[in-house]
Parts: sequence; structure tokens; C-alpha cells
Amino acid sequence: MTEGATRASIADALAEVGDAGLLRELRCVRPLEGASVELDGRRCVSFASCDYLGLARHPRLGEAAARAAREHGTSSGSARLLSGHGDEVSSLEHELARHFGAPTALAYGAGYLANLSVVTTLAGRGDLVLSDRLVHASAVDACRLSGAEVDVVPHGDVDAFAARLDAARARHRRILVLVDGLYSMDGDVAPLAELLPHVERAGALLVVDDAHGLGVLGAHGRGAVEACGVDPACVVQVGNLGKALGSYGAFVLADATVRDLLVQTSRGFVFTCALPPPVIAAAREALRVVRDEPERLVRVRRNARVLREALAGCGVEIEDATLATPIVPVLVGDAEAALAVSRRLLEVGWFVPAVRPPTVAPGTSRLRLTLTADHDEEQVREVARAVADALA
Ligand SMILES: Cc1ncc(COP(=O)(O)O)c(C=O)c1O
Repeated sequence: MTEGATRASIADALAEVGDAGLLRELRCVRPLEGASVELDGRRCVSFASCDYLGLARHPRLGEAAARAAREHGTSSGSARLLSGHGDEVSSLEHELARHFGAPTALAYGAGYLANLSVVTTLAGRGDLVLSDRLVHASAVDACRLSGAEVDVVPHGDVDAFAARLDAARARHRRILVLVDGLYSMDGDVAPLAELLPHVERAGALLVVDDAHGLGVLGAHGRGAVEACGVDPACVVQVGNLGKALGSYGAFVLADATVRDLLVQTSRGFVFTCALPPPVIAAAREALRVVRDEPERLVRVRRNARVLREALAGCGVEIEDATLATPIVPVLVGDAEAALAVSRRLLEVGWFVPAVRPPTVAPGTSRLRLTLTADHDEEQVREVARAVADALA
């Protein structure tokens, strides 16, 4: 094969990532007991998983998935509008809506697809999207694809959102306000209660990607809206089945009109295969386990609190030691330095990933620790000491 200009340019693009010191590694992880894993053949305790409630290897989910595979097969075979669906997916949607106190739910193949679908369906040319600076990459891509005017607002800045909403009110047919519920790299919660009155006054719609918060935040695990005291009927939410709910895929919680429009026109729904039966069955079982085993929520919350207290006690600077969310960033700054600290931690048995650009802004590389119900308190206290030592 001759080395043409296109191939050469592609190779250059890869070399550029390497030259910037930002090459990432695909690593092989094998789950062991509890929060322990084998990473590239080395035994360690993982603080890298978003299986917040420890459901991914729960025997009840495994059995439900296996039974569904035997009875209904391993694939949905096609898109729902094209070839119909089993009643399991409708049951899952009803159960999700009931569980999270929302008017309706619609299942998607992934959170990425759900975000693309929601934003491009609800906003287009001539519309305005006000997007928090730290929303997930899938929401950023969705904004670009939508063709709407996009205004990126400083992170969590209610006054900045309010000023833009006031200025934009009369000029646009539709205005969407995009935030994450629980921010995936910073571990903070969007100020939904403060934001919503401004959104409603402007006749806009608040879209909350709560991939990390639904299942974990709020008294009953109903997510950032519950933690903030916001009525789920007033917002559109995107939730995830592959994090706290131990399965795969995603869902949108919205009123019936939004759901109906998504079914009719959202390309990430119309043009993709439906969720496969084992995944649906695991998600449905997860909702039952969450109700039967409320102690899982208690454990992940305790771990989140203990880690922040322990890090602060070891002199490690963290953004807000009073938060109790299961995502704890420890800022390092330089990308190489963050990677070096992460490697030092792995050498002594702790899997704590370094998060670098483009996932986070240059100069804000960090360690990102995620807590689950599978960690025990001693592990959490020990990792805090290990982080402090590795940083020193
Ligand atoms: C905040 C947020 N939204 C959306 C997604 C995308 O979800 P999925 O992995 O199901 O595509 C992720 C990450 O996985 C995320 O962290």
C-alpha cells in the first residue's frame, strides 16, 4: 500500500497527540471482589468506576439478564419504529418514570445518543442554547449539530444565565438551558433551584444531563432535581442506565409532548437499534434492587463524605469538603504530573485515574476518584493517605 497524503495526515494527527503528551491507554480490567480489580495483571482497588451503587455484578441483575437472553434473545434486531418492540422496554420506561417521579420516560441506546437527540430535536436554526461551560462532550457536540446559536455560560453562574435569558427572551423562538445535574469531572451539582425561575420567566426549557446524579443524589436517589427540590415535571432530564443502574443505555425523562416529538423525530431514536433484552431486564431488576437494598445509597454517600473528610485531614486541597457527591476531583494542574501521581498510586495498589485535556481544560488536569457502595470505609481512608503521599 502506498503512503498517500490522507494516511500521512492521519498519522500526523496521532503523532500530535503523542507529542503533546496526551496519548491515552486502553487498559484491561478484570473485576475481583468488592471494589478490587486486576488492572493489566496487577491487583488494586479501583476508584475509577461509575457503578455507584455496586449493581453491575449483583447476582439478581445477572440472573435477570441471563433469563431475558434465553427467553427473548440477545439483540433487539432493529429500531423500534421499524420493527416494533417487546413490552419489556415499555415496562422499563413506565418503571423509570415512576421511580424518578417524572411524567414519562424514553429509552435510548446510550447517553451520548440521548443528549444528541434531545438538543437537536428541541433546538435548531434560529433558536438559542445557553450551555454551562462544563457540560458533557456529548452535549457540546449536540449543540454544534443542532444549528442553534450557542452561548457558553461560565460554570454554575446563575447571574450570568439570568442576564443572558433576559436579553434573549424576545429574540428567539425557543431557548434551551443546558446543564449537567452532577458534573462528571468536578463533582458539583448545578444550582437548579436558583436557575429554574429565570428559565421559566424567559419561557425557556431547562435540560439537565444527570447521567451521574440520577440514582445517587437526593433523599430517594432521584437525582439532582430531588437534591435541589425541583419538580421533575418542570425540566427535561437525561439519565443513564450504565452508571448507577448497573446496565447499559440511557433514558430521557420529560413531559408527554417532548417524549412524543423525540419518538417522531429524534435521529438517535429513529435510526438506531433498540436496547437488547438482557440490558433492559438488568435495568428493570436494578430498580427493584435499589428499592430492596436502600443501604447501597447510604454506603456510597458515607464513602463520599468520608473521602472528602479524609483528604482534607491529610492536607489535600479539594474544592468543597462539605459536598457528599461520589465524584471527587483532586486538582494537579499539569497533565504529565497528574499522570505521574496516578502511576505512583497504581504502584501501591490504588487505581485512581488522571483526567487530562481534552476531557478537562488545559492546566486543570486532575485525579478523579469515584466512590461506590462496594468500597469499605477503611479503603476510603487509606486511599486518601495514599493520594496525599503520592502528591508529596
Ligand atoms: C455527564 C455525562 N453525560 C452523558 C454521558 C454519555 O453516556 P453514555 O456513556 O451512555 O454514552 C456521560 C458518560 O458516559 C456523562 O458522563
